[in-house]
Formats: sequence, structure tokens, C-alpha cells
Amino acid sequence: MIYQIEPSFNKKTLKNLQKYIISGSWFTEHTQTKLFEKKFQSFLKSKNVILYPNGTLTMSSILSCLNIKKEDEVLVSNYTMVATPNAPLLAGAKVNLVDISSQNLCMCPIDLKRKITKKTKFVIYTSMNGRAGNILEILKICKQNKIYLIEDAAHSIGSFYKGKHLGTYGVAGSFSFSMPKLITMGQGGAITTNNNLLAKKLRKFKDFGRVRNGMDIHNSLGYNFKITDMQAVLGLGQLDEIKLRLNSKRNLYDTYYELLKDNNKIKIFRRNKDETPWSFDLYSPFKSKIKKILSKNNIVTRDVYPPINNQKIYNHIKGLKVSNFYCKQGIWLPSSINLKKKQIKKICNLINSI
Ligand SMILES: Cc1ncc(COP(=O)(O)O)c(C=O)c1O
Repeated sequence: MIYQIEPSFNKKTLKNLQKYIISGSWFTEHTQTKLFEKKFQSFLKSKNVILYPNGTLTMSSILSCLNIKKEDEVLVSNYTMVATPNAPLLAGAKVNLVDISSQNLCMCPIDLKRKITKKTKFVIYTSMNGRAGNILEILKICKQNKIYLIEDAAHSIGSFYKGKHLGTYGVAGSFSFSMPKLITMGQGGAITTNNNLLAKKLRKFKDFGRVRNGMDIHNSLGYNFKITDMQAVLGLGQLDEIKLRLNSKRNLYDTYYELLKDNNKIKIFRRNKDETPWSFDLYSPFKSKIKKILSKNNIVTRDVYPPINNQKIYNHIKGLKVSNFYCKQGIWLPSSINLKKKQIKKICNLINSI
């Protein structure tokens, strides 16, 4: 069986986890969480990183800590995971959907301009599959319209654009460490921001609104959105070998690209030099045939996210042709870090044989 994604941890990480558990440490978030935050911060070249339980609460918490109001509108791409549009709704505001560019499958600046109203206060930009897409243009539009740009960089660990890590362009960025991501903690998330005041608020918000560590004094409302040091230990093991992981993902993507690029029945995207897609995605009207032949050969694929406006709670939002076209034709191919070149060749031969 070739799975779409399998997690992989090196032996040292597993030993460190065992060592941590028997060391009598605190289990809840403590020194290892701080260490992960510090190391991820220096990898991103950002002023602050705050760990959260997942990459959904990160986004709703950023909105809450930026004082989102119920009449505020948040614009989100129609091709993303449902967590992105859910975040503004969970924070008590409104959401509208923006179509994507066919060149990179990220939010389309032209459609964004069309959708901005007086109520638009935030844009959440998803760098789909680690692609920078139109980030600079989107940033410019947001600045011109006094809109906060938040980045959903869940897919973008190790993706840079013009030397800057994705997730660090807007007021805050959100990362996910769920199972299929380049770094996984099982579940987990991180917020990055260069705004120290916002970082302080987000730390307080995740810790019951506590004024200071070790004190039961709370002068604002907050949740318990802490993680555990065990998750941080797992994350640290992967962060310490990040170069290796980035190289394998990039090689895997480029190998697929080379073997499939001459097949004119599928649409694939060339990787920009500094991008690290978490998985290889292809789009084809022959999607069901591809899935069938791969499945017969014990090769597991996964459909890409359906267009958001095909989900029940968003289906009153009409139009969005480009995203509807691509999302319905897309699949993720197997993309585990340990996938062998000969396995990729087998998968591509099967696809090209159709
Ligand atoms: C683009 C995108 N945004 C947000 C999320 C949500 O992250 P989490 O599962 O950590 O809540 C995901 C999860 O896969 C995602 O793919």
C-alpha cells in the first residue's frame, strides 16, 4: 500500500520523547514549547511565534485579538480548507468568498477588489500548497483599503517568496502541525506576528486571560488553548532536520513534475524555486479514471478540498467559476517524505498509461 501521506519521525526524536516522559517534567506546555517557539521564530525570521492547539483556533484567535466585530466582513479564498472561512464565523463575524487565479490557485486580486465593501476589515490569504501566488498584490490592495491581511500558511512551512517566509507578510500568519503537514505534532498550530502587542494579547488569550504566569489573576476573557510539551518535543525533532525534510518534499514534487509535464490531459504547476508544496496536486477531467487505476494498484490518493461554496453553510454564495472548475478536478498524489523515486515512477507510469 502506498498511502497519500505517512508521518515520519527519526529515532532520536522518539528517544527524546521517551526521555522527556520519564524525566518528571511538566507535560503541559513549558520549556520544550518555549524552545520550539524560539527555533521556529528564527526559522521564519519573525519577532514572535505562539503555539496553539491547531491551525483553526490560530485564525479565529487572531481575529478575536484584533477586535473583530460582528458586522465586520472577512474575505477568504473559495479554494482552501473549510477551517479558513469557519474562523471568522467562529469569531462571530461574517465571511464572503473570493475566486482564485488559474495561474497559481491562490486568491485572485481582481476578484478581491470586486468583493471589497465598506464592511471588509480582514482578508485571510491561503498560500495553497505552499504557493506564494499573488501575495504582494494582495498585500498592496489590503494596505490601500486599510484591511488587515492575515495569512493562512497551513500548507507553507518552508515556502519563501523573495526571501521572506510565507506567513510573515501580513499582520499575522497561521500554521498547522496536523498529521499531513511537513512538521506534525498530531495536532498543533502556530501564530507568527511581528506585532508585539498582538503577540502579547494572543498569549494571554490562550491562557485564560491570565495576567502573569503562575498567578490566578485574570483581567480579560480567555480560553485554554495551550498545547503539551510532548507535542513540542515531536515538533523539535522535525524542526532540527528541517533542511532534509524540505529537500525531500521539493525533490518529490520536482520528480512528479518532470514525469507528468508532457501529459496534456492533466494540469500541474511548476514549483517556484523557494516553495515547498506539502503534497503533489494535479487537476484533470480524467480524475476518476486516475483514482481508479491508482486504487487498483493499492495507491491512495485524496481529493483536493471541494470549493467552499459547495459546502452546506456556504452554498448561498454563488459564482466563483475558476475555483469550482479546479477544485472538482483535483487530487493529491502520495507525497510522504519517505516515498521512493521508483514508487513515484510507478504512479506516473500508471497515470500516463490512461
Ligand atoms: C489551508 C488550511 N487551513 C487551515 C487548516 C486547519 O488546520 P488544523 O487542522 O490544524 O486546524 C488546514 C488543515 O489541513 C488547511 O489545510
